[in-house]
Amino acid sequence: MARKKIVAGNWKMNTLPAEGVELAKSVVAGRGEVCECVNFIVCPPFTHLAQVIEQVKGSDIAVGAQDCATEAKGAYTGEVAASMIAALGCKYVILGHSERRQYYGETSESLNKKMAQAYANGLTPIYCVGENLEEREAGNHFAVCKAQIEEVVYNLTEEQFASLVIAYEPVWAIGTGKTATAEQAQEIHAYIREVLRAKFGAAAEECPILYGGSCKPSNAAEIFAKEDVDGGLIGGAALKAEDFLAIGKGF
Ligand code: 13P
Repeated sequence: MARKKIVAGNWKMNTLPAEGVELAKSVVAGRGEVCECVNFIVCPPFTHLAQVIEQVKGSDIAVGAQDCATEAKGAYTGEVAASMIAALGCKYVILGHSERRQYYGETSESLNKKMAQAYANGLTPIYCVGENLEEREAGNHFAVCKAQIEEVVYNLTEEQFASLVIAYEPVWAIGTGKTATAEQAQEIHAYIREVLRAKFGAAAEECPILYGGSCKPSNAAEIFAKEDVDGGLIGGAALKAEDFLAIGKGF
């Protein structure tokens, strides 16, 4: 059974609209150089989702948002509903990114609501888990990832789980230039799959688990070669089309 291979770019709070459109244009232009077997996703800021969607039209590049609201609609100033994102043509939404957990008080409670909103609107969540440095050094990384999955992913139905994408992103490797070794990634990806198997059985074999954290063209191939690593969630290197596409060549 071959799992879906995914390279997703999380642009975070980078690029002005015109820059994002240019970036998307370059990704589309170079996409042909990479195996068709790779599913590319770009996740720009909300402000230029529509323009980027327009730009990738006609290609096989999918677009995702970086977050969505816990509620369906109403008096929630500043929030963006999953239905709005879906109406633009987005297919994915990143949920539970460590930066949202760390800086914006994201919890399992809010994430359960966001997951429900995403599924109710036909979006596929890219659900992020991962430990910080202190947790890794204390040997708690397995327990942290397990709890982040049990508290949220375990609440999904089998049907919802069937389309879920998970991203393992060790916080200590994000934007630090410090990458988990391929062995460290494989060890925890296999563990995450085991935690998924305990709840969802054989369906766990089909769930793509992406690695994120200073992933770049020079280390992608080694990491992606590992059995339980099904691609990457890319930050910094996704801001250069050439690097982003080169990461896709890592398969
Ligand atoms: P970097 O690739 O910049 O380390 O970011 C990873 C990340 O957080 C992707 O969501």
